Amino acid sequence: MSASTGDVGASRTADVMDHIMTTRAMRRFTDEPVDDAVVLECLRAAQQGPSGGNVQPQQYVVVTDPDVRSRIAHWYRRAFLRYEATLDTPTEFRSEEDRTSWERTRAASHHLAEHLAEVPVLVVFLQPIIPWGSADDDGPLDIGRLDASVYPAVQNFCLAARAHGLGTALTTVIRVHSEEVFAELGIPEGRYEIAALVPVGHPTGRFGVARRKPVEAVTHWNRFGDRRR
Ligand SMILES: Cc1cc2nc3c(=O)[nH]c(=O)nc-3n(C[C@H](O)[C@H](O)[C@H](O)COP(=O)(O)O)c2cc1C
Repeated sequence: MSASTGDVGASRTADVMDHIMTTRAMRRFTDEPVDDAVVLECLRAAQQGPSGGNVQPQQYVVVTDPDVRSRIAHWYRRAFLRYEATLDTPTEFRSEEDRTSWERTRAASHHLAEHLAEVPVLVVFLQPIIPWGSADDDGPLDIGRLDASVYPAVQNFCLAARAHGLGTALTTVIRVHSEEVFAELGIPEGRYEIAALVPVGHPTGRFGVARRKPVEAVTHWNRFGDRRR
C-alpha cells in the first residue's frame, strides 16, 4: 500500500515522528542559500493545514531580497529589544538544566534579533481581518478564533522545512511594528495582521528533541485530574 493510501510503514512513521520531535526553534543559521522551490514545497505543506470551514485564510509573503530582509530585520530587532527589556530574569530555577535552557533560549533569541537580516528567507504569515464567528437567535456562537486556522499552516511549514534539513522559528514579536512591516512589504493597511514571521535557513547546530513537560503530567483520561503515570 502506498503512503497516499495510509500505510506508511514503520520506518517512515519513525522518520515522521523524528521530524516532529526535533522541530524546535532554530535561531542560528549559516549563510547557505535556500532554494525557492524548497520554500514553495514547504508552503504547499502549509496549505494542507486544516482551517475552520476550510476557509484557508492565510497569505504568505516570502522575503528573499537582501535589502527587504534587512529592512524587516531592522523592525524585528527594534521590536525584540523593546520586548526583551520588559523580561524579568528569574531569580530561581528548579534545576541547573532549567537555568541552562532559559539562558540558551535568551541568548539565541537575542542572536536572532541581531542577525535576522542574514537569514536567507523570511516568511511572513498573514491572516486577514475579517468578520469571524457566528450567531443564532440565542446570541453569538464561539466557534474558535481565526488564528486557530492559521497556526496549523505555520507548524506544517516548519515541519516540512525540518524534513528538508532547514531550521525555522515561529516568531511573533514583529507584531509590535506591524504597520512599518506592512509599509515595507506593500501589504494593504487595515486588511491583515501578522500571524508569524518565520526565518528559514540551514541551521548551524544539530536538530535535537527540545525539553518539554512530560506528557503524562498534562494528560487527563476521561476526567480532568485522572492522570496515568
Ligand atoms: C506564539 C509564539 C510566539 C513566539 N515568538 C517568538 C519571538 O518573537 N522570537 C523568538 O525568538 N522566538 C519566539 N517563539 C519561539 C519560542 O520561544 C519557542 O518556541 C520556545 O521557546 C520553545 O523552543 P524550543 O522548541 O526550541 O524548545 C515563539 C513561539 C510561539 C509559539
